[in-house]
Amino acid sequence: MQTQSWLRAGLFAALATASFGAAPAQAQGSLVLYCSVQEEWCRPMAQAFEKETGIKVSMTRKSSGETYAQIKAESSNPRGDIWWGGTGDPHLQAAEEGLSEAYESPRNADLHDWAVKQWKQSKGRTVGVYAGALGFGFNTKQVASRKIDEPKCWADLIKANLKDEVQVADPNSSGTSYTMLATLVQLMGEDKAFDYLKALHKNINQYTKSGAAPAKATSLGETTVGITFMHDMVTMVVDGGPVKVVAPCEGTGYEIGSMSMIKGARNPDSAKKFYDWALTPAAQSLAAQAKSYQVPSNKSVVPPPQAPKLEEVKLIDYDFAKYGSSAERTRLLSKWDREVKVLPK
Ligand code: F6P
Repeated sequence: MQTQSWLRAGLFAALATASFGAAPAQAQGSLVLYCSVQEEWCRPMAQAFEKETGIKVSMTRKSSGETYAQIKAESSNPRGDIWWGGTGDPHLQAAEEGLSEAYESPRNADLHDWAVKQWKQSKGRTVGVYAGALGFGFNTKQVASRKIDEPKCWADLIKANLKDEVQVADPNSSGTSYTMLATLVQLMGEDKAFDYLKALHKNINQYTKSGAAPAKATSLGETTVGITFMHDMVTMVVDGGPVKVVAPCEGTGYEIGSMSMIKGARNPDSAKKFYDWALTPAAQSLAAQAKSYQVPSNKSVVPPPQAPKLEEVKLIDYDFAKYGSSAERTRLLSKWDREVKVLPK
């Protein structure tokens, strides 16, 4: 009897310890994060969220178009919980195609109008987390040694003196490059934009997978010009690269970097926690620490001084509803594949 109660007590204690040991892990949970900004910013975001909540984050970084395609491919068995960062157009396409979940964060009230507009436009399925203008940068040493004028306009990038000297990403994988495609169509009209893209093709040395890759290549002098978001070129300047950042003289488009909760997420509670947290001033301030100079969507976060001042850039009234729609994005990308990518150089 005595032995039995000792045994019972021992067993109870063992079970209690076991469940006590297991409980926090369950309570803390896990999160599968698909991240579409630079690795240098994805990592501190994942780490800071883990530290704040105890939720274990498994993070994968891919470009915006690639992440959209992955979420679509996985839609019958979703593996990701939240998609954070990347240009807004593919987030809007995912929303329209029912790949993301509607959610209203209590933090919406703290956001700039442009971020909330993105949320309203998508019927609550995606929200703005930052904004940035498209532009290009050039390597000042290369420009000097080639004895060419500093490029200032889109028109300069198709000149013969930049043959094989311009780099940009592939718009299928990269949201940056899709922003360029949609921007040119809005700036010039579709026929002229495609004529321009065909002329530009002659000057392209490489279509990269990631949108920001041409910034690094420009800084290293591997290409004279790189077409990227202006903030990605600013990072090169901050790092001491011989780079000048340009807001194209004809005007340019911009992105509303976005965040979406993935439909059918396995960890919806963790996804909601990340979503709310990613809109806080503390989380958004991590951008500048990671040398990412977008304009944050939380109104109380002062943009870093290095961030390009969007009010000083000649921005077009980018039609996110149209160019983020499934039909238009699919159509423009396949037209680019058919009419531009396949052309001989
Ligand atoms: O993180 C830099 C950045 O330019 C973001 O501002 C943007 O949303 C993202 O990269 C786009 O990356 P990609 O063109 O590779 O999809």
